[in-house]
Formats: sequence, structure tokens, C-alpha cells
Amino acid sequence: MKVRLPIREVHAREILDSRGNPTLEAEVTVENPVTGEWVKKRAGVPSGASTGQFEAVELRDGEVRYFGLGVRRAVNNVNTKLKDALLGQDASCQHRIDEQILGCDGTQNKENLGANACLGVSMAAARAAAGALHLPLYQYLGGIYTVKLPIPMMNILNGGKHADNTLDFQEFMIAPAEAESFAEGLRVCAEVYHNLKGICKEKGLSTGVGDEGGFSPDLPDTESALSLLVEAIEKSGHEPGGDVKIAIDAAASELFDHETGAYVFPGESRMKGQRVARTTQELIGYYESLANRFPLFSLEDGLDENDWDGWQELTRRLGDRLQLVGDDLFVTNVKRLSAGIRLGAANAILVKVNQIGTLTEAFAAIRLAQENGFHTVISHRSGETDDDFIADIAVAVNAGQIKTGAPCRMERVAKYNRLLRIEEELYGELWK
Ligand code: PGA
Ligand code: ZN
Repeated sequence: MKVRLPIREVHAREILDSRGNPTLEAEVTVENPVTGEWVKKRAGVPSGASTGQFEAVELRDGEVRYFGLGVRRAVNNVNTKLKDALLGQDASCQHRIDEQILGCDGTQNKENLGANACLGVSMAAARAAAGALHLPLYQYLGGIYTVKLPIPMMNILNGGKHADNTLDFQEFMIAPAEAESFAEGLRVCAEVYHNLKGICKEKGLSTGVGDEGGFSPDLPDTESALSLLVEAIEKSGHEPGGDVKIAIDAAASELFDHETGAYVFPGESRMKGQRVARTTQELIGYYESLANRFPLFSLEDGLDENDWDGWQELTRRLGDRLQLVGDDLFVTNVKRLSAGIRLGAANAILVKVNQIGTLTEAFAAIRLAQENGFHTVISHRSGETDDDFIADIAVAVNAGQIKTGAPCRMERVAKYNRLLRIEEELYGELWK
């Protein structure tokens, strides 16, 4: 007979995220009737800055406290409605837990309870069930086929909405494509990061960091940022485009000007003393020329979240040579991803659990992507907590890639450290 794990307690509180804004933390207690144990686990909900228009709703109080950003209404929804719906339910049956959550909310975009309320409980229930069964979270979520550690895509230069510098594209990342182990790849990235700091210092550039731990100097344009990365990779003894590759998250929805229909580059405009804007066609051409000159392997949100025609054209022109990742475009939503697959828009999906609000829905998006040959990148948000849940998801679904910032700021490093522990658990101490 299957062991049921009845939920005995559900509780949420308001905590702070890595930007000093409130977010929700949920706790779920389950009982294992076989052992008689009660296990309580918690989960923290992340929060974005460059959020997609089609993301599930993050419920904020809109009151004076915390400049409107308080989450007491979402907390209250967990402590009343979700608690009532879930007490006594079997936590080991995640899809039914998530169905209850969806039913309790009753809207398409979770505007009623808040995706933050829904996700906190969904994650905490999974973690409590894993704990009660004495399984590591990745194995509980993924079963026996949990063997592959993800390659980190490390964001070591921050721009856009994540920093106050002149870089218009949001993220400049490195990926140790050929490392023999996760630990080895992490070392390579951390060394490049430190060399990048040294290079910035030498050039008199700021070494202050942005929201995701990458440096955020003022630079004239994208080419200068990519050149800095190439220099740091070479200084570390690696081959740009060989064992260390480069990725960009343009977060282009943030640059798109709805009035003119063009992409505006405010930082580049300031540095060059003239207005810089690019049409969709020009921007695609720009990416092509960047890919010709720099060892790019991946481009995320290269175009606006509503520009399906542009995405199709981008994919036709660059899909063979670049991983084209839909973040704001897909928002971890199977409906939007299905459209992308049908139209041939993008060839990879960024997965952020809080864009959709339950684990079951996020896993459905991952499965749909994998079944259709789309790459999957599991991702943090720019506002994070110390929760390392996404590290376990990346291993559980054999995602292949994870995006969780620079090797700096503990809310980022927590995920990398969790992956080190998982690798050791799966393969022992590889360096011996
Ligand atoms: P966000 O940024 O968490 O601020 O949305 C991350 C990303 O765009 O990938
Ligand atoms: Zn993104």
C-alpha cells in the first residue's frame, strides 16, 4: 500500500529577499504514518525585476509599508485559504496538491491568491514530502534518472534593470562547456570572475556588483562588454568559444519602445552622445554581427515578448548557430511554449518557477520543451532568497543548464554550493 503523507500544518511569513524587498516564505509540515515522524520544511519565493508581461501575478499589498511591496495579503492567503484546502491532503501527490492550489485560486494568472502564495506552498509541500521519505529533493522530484549536473551559465557582468550602469543588455554570462564535472566548471567560472575583477581594476572600471553578483562598470557598448569577457577568459588560460563560451540575456522587452516600435539603447546613447535605437531587423542583424565577432553560444530574450514574427525570423537566421532562449516570451507557460514550438520561435526555454506559480505547471513546461527538442535552462530571479530549491530541480529534470548568477552574493552561491553537494552525493569526491 502506498504511504500517504498527510499535511498537518501550513504556514507562511513575510521575509526579505536579496534586494531588501519583502517576499513570502512558506512552511509545510507532513506526517509519515509509518515512522510516526512529523517533518516541517520551508521554501522561499524569488522575485524578478525585469518581469514578463505574461507572468503569473505576484501579489503585493500596495500599502504604505515597504513602499507597497509588502506581501501580507499573500501570507494571509496561505495561512487561511490554502491551509484550509490542504490540511489532511497527501503531500506525496504533488499534482493533486497543485490542483488544490489552482482550484483554491480559481484564476488563470493566480491574481486571487498570488503566485507567490501558491508557489511557496507548492515547493514547501514537495520538500516536506521528500524529507518525510528520507529522499534528497532532486531524487524525490526526478526519481532514479537523476544523473546529470547542469552546466552553469554564470552572469558575471550585470546591466539593464539589474544595475545602474550603462550596459543596456541585462546579462553577460560565461559557461564552462567542456568541464569534466560541475565542481571543475564552477572553479573555471570563479577564476574567470576574479580575473575579470582584476582587469576592471586595471582599467579603472568600477568593481561594484549588480543584483546578480556580476560587475557593473560603465562601458560604451555591448562589444566592449564582450571584449572584457574574452580578455578575462584568456587571462584564465581558457579558450573563448572553446572550453568557455559566452551567453547574453538581452532582456529586450525592457528596451522595446511601444510608441516607435524600435529597441532603444539608453546606456549606449548616453556614452555615444547620440540616440541609439534599432528596429527588429537591425537588432537581428546586430546579433548576427556579434555572433560573427564573439564566441556566443546562447542568446536569451533577444526580442520583445510580443514580437512573434521577429522571433521566427531570429530563429530562422540564427537558430542553427545559437541557443535562442525564451524567458519573457514563454514565462514557463505551456500555452506560450506550445505557440513557440508551433511557430518555430526560439529553441530553448528559461524556467522560472515563480513565473507560473506551481511545481506541476513548471515541470509540464520542462517536459513539453524536452519532448520537442528545446533546451531547458533552470533559472533564479534577480531577487532571491537563500533557498537552493532550483539546484535540485536542475538535477531532477536533467535540465543541462542552470542560470543562477555570479559566484558572488550568497543567495547565488547557495545554489552552486548545493550542486557541489549533490555531485558529491551522486559521484563521490571526484578530485581524489
Ligand atoms: P529577473 O531577471 O529575475 O529580474 O526577471 C532574470 C532574467 O531576466 O533572466
Ligand atoms: Zn531573462
